[in-house]
Amino acid sequence: MTTTLQTRTLGSTGPQVSALGLGCMGMSALYGGADRAESVATIHAALEAGVTLLDTGDFYGMGHNELLIGEALRAAPAAHREQALISVKFGALRDPDEGWSGYDGRPAAVRNFAAYSLQRLGTDHIDVYRIARVDPDVPIEETVGAIAELVAKGYVRHIGLSEVGAETIRRAAATAPIADLQIEYSLISRGIEREILPTTRELGIAVTAYGVLSRGLISGHFAHDRQLAPGDFRAVSPRFQGENLRHNLDLVDALRKIAEQKGASVAQIAIAWVLSRGEDVVPLVGARRRDRLAEALGALEVTLDAADLAAIEDAVPAGAAAGERYPAAQMAHLDSEH
Ligand SMILES: NC(=O)c1ccc[n+]([C@@H]2O[C@H](COP(=O)([O-])OP(=O)(O)OC[C@H]3O[C@@H](n4cnc5c(N)ncnc54)[C@H](OP(=O)(O)O)[C@@H]3O)[C@@H](O)[C@H]2O)c1
Repeated sequence: MTTTLQTRTLGSTGPQVSALGLGCMGMSALYGGADRAESVATIHAALEAGVTLLDTGDFYGMGHNELLIGEALRAAPAAHREQALISVKFGALRDPDEGWSGYDGRPAAVRNFAAYSLQRLGTDHIDVYRIARVDPDVPIEETVGAIAELVAKGYVRHIGLSEVGAETIRRAAATAPIADLQIEYSLISRGIEREILPTTRELGIAVTAYGVLSRGLISGHFAHDRQLAPGDFRAVSPRFQGENLRHNLDLVDALRKIAEQKGASVAQIAIAWVLSRGEDVVPLVGARRRDRLAEALGALEVTLDAADLAAIEDAVPAGAAAGERYPAAQMAHLDSEH
């Protein structure tokens, strides 16, 4: 059985999607190990619950995440498989030691990345395709133009952007229709409100928000003494270090009081807050287990009125987090922060 979830539309040209999307990254990379069977079961549970948007990147586990999604879709009932929309990021260059060597947005590279993704996913098209970070050596017009050619040939349905600033959004939108901008947005990452969100709204582009739980930091499940596996992004993320972590978890405690009053969990309040930002904002939740997914979906049942929103913003004012959202070297790749 498939449940119908609330839906939202990805911009003026994009598809209708479930109001919450499932981000699959953590099933392959960046948060320590994940259980493969549980990952597949989580994707199946999401589809069954009516989630239609699955987000991945070809570099999440160097193809592992796309192969996992392909496997899950093949094993899913046809009705669930047919309703799934896959959003893929490309462009990051990896090495066998799991290192990162920059980004490649040349048109020939775009076509090459897409050809491999289609094979790994086992599909004949990608629903939304985007470069993960702008390649500083390739004008965005060339990268987006190459994706537009893939749209014309039927290999891609819609064009997205990731972590770009207002000027790049305008240049991309002048090149081809853009469905959505994928960017970090949460109670403690509100930088997009100044210039980026007004720009996407002006241009009819949706926001697919990631890090709505700040990678677990504001989920209510993260503790001071959590041991992180080697390779876990949170071991190097400034917000999870020493005094910053202590300060940020104090913000979570303030949020917990509000959650208790609302009869919801901290994660649900954090996700519901992002949902409350507007019909053009679609949170991607990084659940990699069915229990976390069920909790995240519960956020759709949480209604926040003006008094709730004021209490939440009082508990976690804009700019309250300690530490940047990425280490310095990764901040440098963010067109959205320039
Ligand atoms: N465009 C980009 O640059 C970019 C960057 C990063 C991610 N993304 C996409 O956005 C997706 C979501 O990002 P994210 O995973 O970093 O963000 P997130 O949803 O803020 O964090 C996910 C982490 O929060 C913890 N968590 C605790 N309770 C949860 C709950 N109820 N539901 C979900 N997670 C819960 C989980 O960690 P534990 O399991 O360890 O508790 C999980 O690994 C990714 O999967 C990826 O597809 C895009």
